[in-house]
Amino acid sequence: MKIGILTGGGDCPGLNAVIRSVVRTGTLKYDDEIIGIENAFDGLLDTQLTRPLSVEDVRGIIGQGGTILGTTNRGDPFKYPVTENGKQVLKDLSDTVLRNIKKLGLEALIVVGGDGTLAIAHELYKLGAPVIAVPKTIDNDLLGTDYTVGFDTAATIAMESLDRLHTTAKSHHRAMVVEVMGRYAGWIALDAGVTGGAEVILIPEIPFTIDKVCTAIRERNEARKFYSLVVVAEGARPAGHQTMIIEKKEDNFGGMERIGGIGNWVAESIQKHSGIETRCVVLGHLQRGGAPTHFDRLLATRLGDFAVDLAHRKMFGMMAALKGKSIVAVDVLDAVERIRYVKPESDAVKTASAMGISFGN
Ligand code: F6P
Repeated sequence: MKIGILTGGGDCPGLNAVIRSVVRTGTLKYDDEIIGIENAFDGLLDTQLTRPLSVEDVRGIIGQGGTILGTTNRGDPFKYPVTENGKQVLKDLSDTVLRNIKKLGLEALIVVGGDGTLAIAHELYKLGAPVIAVPKTIDNDLLGTDYTVGFDTAATIAMESLDRLHTTAKSHHRAMVVEVMGRYAGWIALDAGVTGGAEVILIPEIPFTIDKVCTAIRERNEARKFYSLVVVAEGARPAGHQTMIIEKKEDNFGGMERIGGIGNWVAESIQKHSGIETRCVVLGHLQRGGAPTHFDRLLATRLGDFAVDLAHRKMFGMMAALKGKSIVAVDVLDAVERIRYVKPESDAVKTASAMGISFGN
């Protein structure tokens, strides 16, 4: 079989492990030809951005962050920015993508992506593209799978950062606010906060008040613990605020809304309302860099292997997913219809509360 593979959306640790797995299963198990497509769907608009991938090409990359194929979170072929008469307009170039899939002779197209990329993949599938999906995003917000590739590494990096910030917060008797990524879901903040020993976790799914955050910090001070760690998801929102706190907006020409700024807002508010010296650290893209954890390497390897099996079973329009301990096939539509949020009534939130963690509500 001739199988194409592309990585789309924000990068994350574990993408190379998926690529390696697809190449190894395809080549060694099925004698397939694997074609690497560069820069997400851009590589299907310009076929010069494609190259055959051999086992030799993917040697030694299982532990490397990023993606050897490159990626972009801007190249939606259904709304592609092109310049016409000196002006930028959005054009539907999906026909070109479909034509190039045929021209390259691809019998399957493995798309490794988060909600945006997989929504595009699903649209292409409806138009006849032989799509198989693999879920990745540090945000862990895809329905249909328990975990996405990249999340475990991002949450681990955030947890390790909390460990480091603990010692400096304690030495200086400060509150330390740590802003983490996750877009509209609070998975990274929740897992990192619980495992990194945070006192307060603020997530988009549970609106908070500064009053309650300050109460939690004051109670610690009264118990003679003169330092506190507050983890804030970038999409967290104070109760009563209709919109998120957003520092910078994109020009939005094919790009997505950039979230960020809530960390500084929370830090300033804590200092103002409680008088406690507070600092803010925005972890940002550090959470997406470097080597994947053991969990992400294994998940990526299992999903990549299974995706090639799905291609051979001609189960197009399906996504390889982790359910419990098993890798299963789910409809890619399940993953893109809605975002998977943290449920405020879930065991994970209950356990955090049992640990004495405040959600600021
Ligand atoms: O979706 C992954 C993610 O890292 C989000 O958590 C974050 O909001 C966004 O991407 C950042 O995007 P960019 O790399 O374009 O700044």
